[in-house]
Amino acid sequence: MKTFDFTLDNDIATLCFDLEDSPVNILSADVLRSLDAKLDELKSAKNIKLLKVTSGKEGIFIAGADISEIENLKDEEEAYEVVREGQKILSKISALPYPTLAVINGACLGGGLELALCCDYRLATENPKTKIGLPEVNLGVLPGFGGTQRLKVLTGLSKALELILGGKILNGKKAEKLGLVDACVPQGYLEFKEAAFVDMILTSPKKILDKRQKGSLLDRYLPSVVFSYARKNVMAKTKGKYPAALSILDLFEKTQNRGIEEGLEFEARAFSKLVITDISKNLITLFYTSEALKKEVGVKRKVNPVAINMINVIGAGVMGAGIVFQFSKLDKLVRMKLRRYEQAGQAMKSIAKVYEGFMKRHRLTKAEVGMKLAHISYTTEFDGFKHCDLALEAIVENTDAKQELYAQLEEIMDEKAIIASNTSSLSISMLSEKMLHPERFVGMHFFNPVPRMPLVEIIPGKKTSAKTIATVVALAKEAGKTPIVVGDCAGFLVNRILLPYINEAVRMFEEGADFERIDKLLLDFGMPMGPFVLADEVGLDVGYKVAKVLEDAYGERMQVSPILDRVYQQMKLLGNKSGKGFYLHEAKKRVANDAVKSLVFSKRQFDEHEIIDRTMLIMVNEAAMCLQEGIVDNAQYLDMAMLMGTGFPPFRGGLLKYADSIGIESIVITLQSLAKHHGLRFEPAKLLLDMAKDEKTFYENR
Ligand code: NAI
Repeated sequence: MKTFDFTLDNDIATLCFDLEDSPVNILSADVLRSLDAKLDELKSAKNIKLLKVTSGKEGIFIAGADISEIENLKDEEEAYEVVREGQKILSKISALPYPTLAVINGACLGGGLELALCCDYRLATENPKTKIGLPEVNLGVLPGFGGTQRLKVLTGLSKALELILGGKILNGKKAEKLGLVDACVPQGYLEFKEAAFVDMILTSPKKILDKRQKGSLLDRYLPSVVFSYARKNVMAKTKGKYPAALSILDLFEKTQNRGIEEGLEFEARAFSKLVITDISKNLITLFYTSEALKKEVGVKRKVNPVAINMINVIGAGVMGAGIVFQFSKLDKLVRMKLRRYEQAGQAMKSIAKVYEGFMKRHRLTKAEVGMKLAHISYTTEFDGFKHCDLALEAIVENTDAKQELYAQLEEIMDEKAIIASNTSSLSISMLSEKMLHPERFVGMHFFNPVPRMPLVEIIPGKKTSAKTIATVVALAKEAGKTPIVVGDCAGFLVNRILLPYINEAVRMFEEGADFERIDKLLLDFGMPMGPFVLADEVGLDVGYKVAKVLEDAYGERMQVSPILDRVYQQMKLLGNKSGKGFYLHEAKKRVANDAVKSLVFSKRQFDEHEIIDRTMLIMVNEAAMCLQEGIVDNAQYLDMAMLMGTGFPPFRGGLLKYADSIGIESIVITLQSLAKHHGLRFEPAKLLLDMAKDEKTFYENR
């Protein structure tokens, strides 16, 4: 296999990495072996003044190590040997007797950056494809080819920690600012700038080296403060559930005053302990799923999506405003249809607030935000609708109101333009029953808050055309979201699985459990918030309506808990937005609402297992039914949808991965016992029974 091209031109050598028969450069074991051989040859070359390491791939320097090889490491000692070997090979670059320069014009991630860090100098480009970083922490491991030891030398301790703990990926300019690269040049001038840079290395290297940062004063004189601050941040962010972050901190602390050789050994040891954990395997599986979803077009046969440039959003409530933001950010022309002009103020205020956040984090400039806001217009009539490519409806969750609106839209809009609904529970086929062109109608279910939630459920009705599906899938991707195509059933996928979880938690409260304790246990389990806090955040009115739709559709299995009925119907509590729900939401404080607590007289001791089993297994059971009915393509997509739609903890790999880790047979036995004590809603799905019989798992078919 040909991997490296070596050329020599006037004493300047170039080692061009161009992995044969592969669209990307990765550092697999084979590649490392051939690099090793090449470096051994180069070590004693007499006629080289400088070596450049470049890439023959468009938009890629080196994308990283081979993730499948990382995934296959199951034994700590073996992992240690493998990673030590890799370190030794890359270290041969640092040991070459002449200066070395990495020319980074494209993705330079993980092992790719670790290789570049072994060079004496780094030059990056402003090419938008130039992305530089060490994202290993996202796969539950740490950089194992020297990255933890070499980065801090260039950026100082705090920045190195921030970059590695956050798995941050930078563009060329930012990388230059933080000291990861020595210079960043416009891609168009690369050849000429590179020659000048090589010249400078050979004639006045001090000029480059003097520019390098030395780290902050804290880094140099009070590293213990840096560590304690970083530890606090890590604990706040991960609640101690992600060992890689803690291990990175430990490693930096332990190697703070050690030389590179010892540091590398510590790094390899820490890496090999992490790489064999279930958490790392789970995170790698999720990475594969997200890669698969990126390639997903939503339809089996190939259909090209239609370009969408003008979008009309009807309804300027919470969701409408969020969706308008999302498309304006994408530089689409967005027109908001209001009932009254006064509604514009509120919607624009909430949109401006989201943009303010982007400016604060320096992600957009004021001028850019001004341009994006200028894409938004509004109307109380339907003017402008004739020319739009897509109308997205986000009005109240009411069938008659929605159907009446579609009739109006069909009269005005071009018959090829798409009409999409953001409904969170109503059937798409049912909503389109009276439409003249149901083939252009589709569900496009964004989650609240739209700017932050990555998931969009795409729901085709019976008559939705493949072109319509492909178009909204492509549009959601363009907007930076992850679309997942799901079946048209009440609640679609995520709400159908999530509502029973909230309902079950409320039932336990009704039986005498303390709801604060339930929230705490589920938070400890890894959920981003407990079910009662979640119900208050979503809004008890919104949650109640969806719960009712599900009860109508699924009957006894999803009967709404009487307490939820009382809290919303009688006490008229709405949750966070009205300041009162299961909790009282005061400024920056949340305390349990005694009025709600006093609705329950009985007290019963619940052990932790019961609370976790009842809330989790009711979801696993519903998820199994969704798979059984073909509501979603596979267990992996289901897990990703729950992760992105509800924040199900990634370290557990997903709801069904969690089920696999418990064992299907054991789940069936627990469900059967719960069904005996608490009712038919726990009756195991047929799929689970079959899987238990055949000793199958959800993930075995990957
Ligand atoms: P909302 O009550 O905040 O906003 C609805 C807006 O639609 C109001 O501004 C109302 O004036 C307007 N409206 C009603 N009829 C209209 C018409 N004929 N023409 C123009 N505007 C009209 O409701 P929200 O929460 O934004 O929900 C909208 C839709 O999104 C619903 O179908 C809901 O099920 C769905 N959804 C809601 C989520 C949530 O968490 N709130 C999450 C995902 C979907």
